[in-house]
Amino acid sequence: EAVGKSGYDHYMRKEIAEQPRAIRDCLRGRVEELAASVSLPELEGLEEPSSVQLVACGTSYHAGLFGERLFQRRGIPAQTFVASEYDAGSVPVDEDTLVVAVTQSGETADTMQALRGANRAGATTLAVTNVVASSAAREAEYACYVRAGPEISVAATKSFASQQVTLSLLASALAGPQSHEFLRELRRLPDYIQAVLDRSSVRDLVGELLDADAYFFVGRGYNAPVALEGALKLKEISYRHAEGFPAGELKHGPLALVTAETPVFALVSGREHTAETIGNVKEVQARRAPVVAVTDVPETVERHAEFVLEVPETHPAVMPIVANVQLQLLAYWLANALGRPIDKPRNLAKSVTVR
Ligand code: G6P
Repeated sequence: EAVGKSGYDHYMRKEIAEQPRAIRDCLRGRVEELAASVSLPELEGLEEPSSVQLVACGTSYHAGLFGERLFQRRGIPAQTFVASEYDAGSVPVDEDTLVVAVTQSGETADTMQALRGANRAGATTLAVTNVVASSAAREAEYACYVRAGPEISVAATKSFASQQVTLSLLASALAGPQSHEFLRELRRLPDYIQAVLDRSSVRDLVGELLDADAYFFVGRGYNAPVALEGALKLKEISYRHAEGFPAGELKHGPLALVTAETPVFALVSGREHTAETIGNVKEVQARRAPVVAVTDVPETVERHAEFVLEVPETHPAVMPIVANVQLQLLAYWLANALGRPIDKPRNLAKSVTVR
């Protein structure tokens, strides 16, 4: 491969470490903090849509779920579809509907099929992609690049963070003036991620969590998609059974599986859903599950968790992007301890061009 590993053992580790730079590149020239505005010249002519549909697969689908929440909070109805389940004929669209294909490669067959269907049905279409002039960028009316740089590892890491940031910019650009705080915290995101990269204790924890029947990940609101992504990352590269749930769903089924042999990773924001999520943590604690809290309010959560992975305190829509880095490192070090071929997991491909 033309891109080297820069001294890291795996591309995945290198790409995790590249996130502060990737996000700086993504933000460059796009955020006017003082005016609380976002500028995306590539979207010139694109008006505020009446609704948004996001279509994507895998990790990009989780970025879509995150984006959906950003649009909804700004008053724009939004819904995310697994691309292979999207049927533009049965989900009404018109030119005021913005269909956003979220795809790192811009080549995923299922996502391309959904995008073509949306174009045929008369929706306005946009590709959020990492690859310039990719099939998705060419097929969609508009293209917005996430600027993550080449991603070699099959498991997506930096492209996910860059998709989250691009969707944050997109939602802000389409919904008019934004809170200064949100844009300020987006600008600080590279530093927050760097702090996690420099200080994360997750590597030390992995030894204690190797013997487990399964791993569960829970979060609410903006953190729910990151819970799904944390589980996906772990199963992709460690081959261990992992599932992610919106925390409130635990009691509707998954709790039956919770034992002392099922570590539960709980994403706890100090600003949103804090009490309810801690309530869910108590439910699993009562079943003796080892709880690992990923949180920006360690003092609040400490006594409910075996382990705390701290992230800097920030806006509730920015916190999950930082928290996800802890989960990427968890997946990496756990797979590493198990001796897995991290960059090329069995049965998986970087870009899936069959349907
Ligand atoms: C494959 C990859 C995943 C990726 C998914 C969607 O399954 O292994 O990492 O998330 O495709 O890819 P895309 O390029 O559309 O984001």
